[in-house]
Amino acid sequence: MERLDFPKDFLWGTSTASYQVEGATHEGGRGECIWDTFARKPGAVYAGENGDVACDQYHRYKEDIAMMAELGFKSYRFSIAWPRIIPEGRGKINPEGIAFYRNLCEELHKNNIHTCVTLYHWDLPQPLEDEGGWANRSILTAFEEYVKVCYKELGDLVDMWITINEPYCVSHLGYLYGFHAPGQRDQKKAVSAMHHVNMAHGIAVKEYRKTGLKAQIGITWNPNTPRPATSSEADKKAADLSRAFSTEVFMFPCLGKGYPKSLKEELKIDFPIEAGDLETIAQPIDFIGVNYYFESPAAADENSPFKNTMKPFWQETTAMGWAYTPGGLERQLLWIAEVSKGAFGKAQIPIYITENGCACNDTVTHDGRVHDMERVRYLQQHLAVCADVIKKGVPLKGYYVWSLLDNFEWAYGYTKRFGIIHVDFKTMKRTFKDSAFFFRDTIAGYADW
Ligand code: FCB
Repeated sequence: MERLDFPKDFLWGTSTASYQVEGATHEGGRGECIWDTFARKPGAVYAGENGDVACDQYHRYKEDIAMMAELGFKSYRFSIAWPRIIPEGRGKINPEGIAFYRNLCEELHKNNIHTCVTLYHWDLPQPLEDEGGWANRSILTAFEEYVKVCYKELGDLVDMWITINEPYCVSHLGYLYGFHAPGQRDQKKAVSAMHHVNMAHGIAVKEYRKTGLKAQIGITWNPNTPRPATSSEADKKAADLSRAFSTEVFMFPCLGKGYPKSLKEELKIDFPIEAGDLETIAQPIDFIGVNYYFESPAAADENSPFKNTMKPFWQETTAMGWAYTPGGLERQLLWIAEVSKGAFGKAQIPIYITENGCACNDTVTHDGRVHDMERVRYLQQHLAVCADVIKKGVPLKGYYVWSLLDNFEWAYGYTKRFGIIHVDFKTMKRTFKDSAFFFRDTIAGYADW
């Protein structure tokens, strides 16, 4: 038997994002976002699905919170849909949107659940994309306006703020590879988006400090820290370059280390930096959020545009086709603890896992249960790594499982189920999966298996 001890104050949470769970996209005065538009584009999302109904959390949040409370979760990470707060991206504020999030926060607090709010989890108001979106510096004034409204209207109810979720997905998936909204494939725009998303983060923190609010504020990255496919120098360099292009490009300027030099030297990338930008980006943050799913092997490839390529792997995969690599989480957390040491004059920056989990082909069986042992094993292995790195001195303070509910998995639509609660998308019926009971016991202190 393995028995895991987590510190008494370890924060156990569960995560979702507005576009993936809320639904009610045409209700409550919400404006259009880039995912509404992208989902209408033929071939962009599996089977033409969209977030119009999603899990209908907009109407069912009380039921969802009661289920979270029953399991003993201490924190709920959700995101604010920018177009519910400022439907056109700039200007008019929508009181119904504010009321929705105030009610959500109040209901969470009534259930002793702490509120962890992501300001941007990808639902950019469409009018801002029409201006050029993240590729246009003009987005920064709109983002500043939006975050100030959030702090003013919701600041008294929020226990933890996250500025941006996964900048990599915003710039690289949205503007370089085109897998995500707005579905563009343009390197120049993507490079601008990388810088602007970093700037938006810095502005959000800077504005937050002016409010005098006392909750913690940080950012969530999805660090890609590939291992070299072989022990050759070329592959080691390729793994470093891949990490620089997808991870350090966000993490390093935010930690006050500037952009990695290899991007300019090896890949000839130039960011549209203006005077004072690097100072704006490098605002002291209270914590680092990490989303981890898998690790890949990287190798040198002179023919690829970024001089590296991902290699085949041998591990089992989840329903996403992602490798089952708990060891990668350990390597990654040790690396993050190392590179963030001493930033902002602090010995260590606290780390939270803000997402971790896996997709499985879950079904409700004849007994009305969902026996998702594959997910339980994935979670056990990753939590074992968490308990272990804490002993090694990594300042890991909490863990949020992705996700509370099966939901709209972006370009994969509803085919990929990540929830610890099963959702029947025809009836909206929620059913605890066995992994939910696994969390209930783990949170209660019986993390033995
Ligand atoms: C992350 C996203 C999250 C979810 C998981 C599976 O990249 O932040 O919204 O889709 O992947």
